[in-house]
Amino acid sequence: MKRTKITELLSAREGREQVLVKGWVRTRRDAKDFSFLEINDGSCLANIQAIVDTSAQGYDGVKEIGTGASVAVQGALVASPGKGQAWEVKATAVELIGAADQETFPLQKKRHSDEFLRAIAHLRPRTNKFGAMFRIRSELALAIHRYFQERGFFYLHTPIITGSDCEGAGEMLRVTALDPGKPLGPEGVKNDFFGKDAFLTVSGQLSAEPFALALGDVYTFGPTFRAEPSDTARHAAEFWMVEPEMAFATLQDNMDLAEDILKYCIRAVIERRGSDLELFAKWVDTTLMATLERLVSEPFERIPYREAVEILRKAPRSFEYEAAFGKDIQTEHERYLAEEHFKKPVIVYDYPKDIKAFYMRQNDDGETVGAMDVLVPRIGEIVGGSAREERLYRLEARIAEMGLAAEHYQWYLDTRRFGTAPHAGFGLGFERLVMLATGATNIRDVIAFPRTYKHLEF
Ligand code: 4AD
Ligand code: MG
Repeated sequence: MKRTKITELLSAREGREQVLVKGWVRTRRDAKDFSFLEINDGSCLANIQAIVDTSAQGYDGVKEIGTGASVAVQGALVASPGKGQAWEVKATAVELIGAADQETFPLQKKRHSDEFLRAIAHLRPRTNKFGAMFRIRSELALAIHRYFQERGFFYLHTPIITGSDCEGAGEMLRVTALDPGKPLGPEGVKNDFFGKDAFLTVSGQLSAEPFALALGDVYTFGPTFRAEPSDTARHAAEFWMVEPEMAFATLQDNMDLAEDILKYCIRAVIERRGSDLELFAKWVDTTLMATLERLVSEPFERIPYREAVEILRKAPRSFEYEAAFGKDIQTEHERYLAEEHFKKPVIVYDYPKDIKAFYMRQNDDGETVGAMDVLVPRIGEIVGGSAREERLYRLEARIAEMGLAAEHYQWYLDTRRFGTAPHAGFGLGFERLVMLATGATNIRDVIAFPRTYKHLEF
């Protein structure tokens, strides 16, 4: 017999004579002649209850089944007399597939702290919270693809190993080949595999631009890496980035796209993973649903960087770092703008050129570039992007001004030499999107096995 997933059983319209459920036991409760197993199979937040008649012959073993064990239960799907669940399984056969020792199994039926669960990242998907988290993460990934595919964007796979630093921030992890004859360790490292220094990519943008200037609208969605030596709740060394790149597009188009895709993704989670969201609304952030409803229904605020700095300088409270024109907007500033001042997402655009990357399109004021960041409450920056400098002479001058090695960018400059066109794109931090949707406050809790500064486990 084929197993039926719990999500399907719980939405059944009528009972069934025989169903087979396989999953993990959340709890077992014993009465005189019966045992009640709460089973979860990961297909949804809800458990299904199985009632086992322990007085009947052959069911003695049920009392060996504890929290965490995997089981197969066969029986009839019947209407549940208890409140809460519509259906339960009246078991006619129970099989213990894999036992879990009750003395050592770390997950008990109580709320565990996030810190405790991070230390057992391999077992935390068995909790309600992390089951819900990773179903939502999956839903969001699908929403991203659906969004772009419905709009004629092509999915592009850009390289993970690269020779160039897209952001010019120097926060790169090196890739080295090992000498198979030598033991793992520094003496086994050969650095000449590519004949030049190789790194893990910080962004797919430089590879995506040539494709936008050929296929029109493209997007990448893949892992990116940053060696940011800071232990924060919103930076990981390995994270996923969504990077659309559009030909014949302006900064305005870019802002419209960023706002639209964020709304689309949040709407998708509300519509398709509502019960998982409820868990976060109940236990993580009681204002979550109101925040998300507002996000999808109201236009984002849009202000030039210059105005953002003015707002920060007039703020009724102080910051650790003073805001000033020409200085980076810090996380505390980003959060102030989105959380306290506007109380909704804000798009800040037209940043001073000296704090932004070489490829951003220069504005006529000679001072700013067509950059944009989307800032959201609780997180700060979630999207960073720009119009790209499509004028060859301007881009060459900028590369020289910034002291970058021009010979590394000749292939990139070809796109401006031959049939250049205005284009724009951005990077959406996928983990930050999952944080936005769930109210999670630490990036370590939205990644299956997080890699962060000084942490590489599992
Ligand atoms: O603003 P960033 O650095 O932009 C770029 O890399 C551009 N080349 C993207 C583009 O235009 N195609 O990064 C984009 C987003 C940030 O807004 C943030 O959401 C996320 O990537 N991000 C990180 N997320 C988690 N951990 C980190 N260490 C991150 N660094 C950036
Ligand atoms: Mg940025």
